[in-house]
Amino acid sequence: MFVNFRRIRKCQCVQLMTTCLVLSVVMLCWEQLDSGVVSHIYSYSYRSYLVNSYTFINKSFTIPRQEAHMFSNHRYLLNHPYKCSGEKDILLLLLIKSSPENFERRRAIRSTWGNETYIRQDLGVTVKVMFVLGLPKQHETAQTWRRRSGGIQDNLVNEDRRHGDLVQQDFVDTFHNLTLKLLLQFRWAHFYCPHARFLMTADNDIFVHMPNLVLYLQYMDRKGVTDFWIGHVHRGAPPIRQKESKYYVPQEMYPWASYPDYTAGAGYVVSRDVANKIYQASLTLNASLYIDDVFMGICANAMGVSPQEHVYFSGEGKAPYHLCIYDKMMTSHGHVADIYELWKAATNPEVKRVTSGLFGRLYCTAVKLTLLCRPYFFNTYPCKAALL
Ligand SMILES: *[C@@H]1O[C@H](CO)[C@@H](O)[C@H](O)[C@H]1NC(C)=O
Ligand SMILES: *[C@@H]1O[C@H](CO)[C@@H](O)[C@H](O)[C@H]1NC(C)=O
Ligand SMILES: *[C@@H]1O[C@H](CO)[C@@H](O)[C@H](O)[C@H]1NC(C)=O
Ligand SMILES: *[C@@H]1O[C@H](CO)[C@@H](O)[C@H](O)[C@H]1NC(C)=O
Repeated sequence: MFVNFRRIRKCQCVQLMTTCLVLSVVMLCWEQLDSGVVSHIYSYSYRSYLVNSYTFINKSFTIPRQEAHMFSNHRYLLNHPYKCSGEKDILLLLLIKSSPENFERRRAIRSTWGNETYIRQDLGVTVKVMFVLGLPKQHETAQTWRRRSGGIQDNLVNEDRRHGDLVQQDFVDTFHNLTLKLLLQFRWAHFYCPHARFLMTADNDIFVHMPNLVLYLQYMDRKGVTDFWIGHVHRGAPPIRQKESKYYVPQEMYPWASYPDYTAGAGYVVSRDVANKIYQASLTLNASLYIDDVFMGICANAMGVSPQEHVYFSGEGKAPYHLCIYDKMMTSHGHVADIYELWKAATNPEVKRVTSGLFGRLYCTAVKLTLLCRPYFFNTYPCKAALL
């Protein structure tokens, strides 16, 4: 009797604590919720209008194959056609968008989250990591490139000789050529690594929690997922019409009020079948829209694929530094100098020890609530991530 009574009390206690936690979420992020709800109602009233305009977008972007081919038929200056061919069982092809001058970032990635040897030995899976780039920036044409930017290009050739992981085409590596880089990635995957189960495209200033990502993708693979496209989703985002903005898109290029849903270009993952669909779509679409993640959304829209949100993929935001965050994080954006430290901290066995068990989970929920559910704290993981 007495024992039972104590159990009930314990249960009530846990319930009470949970209720308190939920209440504090609601209070802490009320403002976030409020503005979120309003903009969602606004965006849902757009929905039916959007669905119709999306078929229209598809139609108006469709061009003859020969013309679409002009966007993607750039010459390879560095390539590794056999990178994947010796290996049957590749979980993930990881393509990292880099720029010729970012030697340091590539070095950091190779020795932390993008270390193929570590992934094979410690995580027991095969992941192929390649850096994709264009031509060094200073010189805008392919003819003068050889003569004048020899320095950077020579370094790239040496770097590639040592690591064998650069893919370069002969377009200038600029923000406005990012869509060409997107085409390069899906084309490369199609021709040289079509059997990789998943394809990830990532910026070279993000942090990927590789152990968490691998576990998640293995789980998805066992479930046999198809039509899988995951990341930080932008829904019904409007084109930016301010000329000063980096993301400015003129009316002539995209006349509609919002983009099809897409995932932030910082880092997203697609399954093999989606990678192939995107490649197929790119063969007949006008790729002059230079915002690469939006263009990816247009390709996906043409194939009837839509993105899914994962709360631990970040868009622009940098995740808070905390053990409880490392336990769940997938990607975090804006890491350059701190990448070695973060890698060490995030893969420390201590993380699992502190965050497991009932007490660990409660502790982490409380910590994450205070870290993620603050008004005016946007762009990293959403408040609801605290409860997962
Ligand atoms: C990659 O990981 C392996 C195995 O853990 C390690 O021996 C190697 O030094 C790492 N490579 C780099 C560039 O840090
Ligand atoms: C790439 O970007 C540069 C500068 O933004 C531009 O001049 C060029 O036409 C673009 N395309 C190629 C194929 O280099
Ligand atoms: C592609 O779109 C751009 C911008 O909207 C346009 O100027 C160009 O003529 C289009 N290309 C083709 C081949 O239709
Ligand atoms: C998009 O357009 C292409 C070519 O016109 C067509 O084959 C495809 O079915 C369209 N997709 C959707 C979702 O309407």
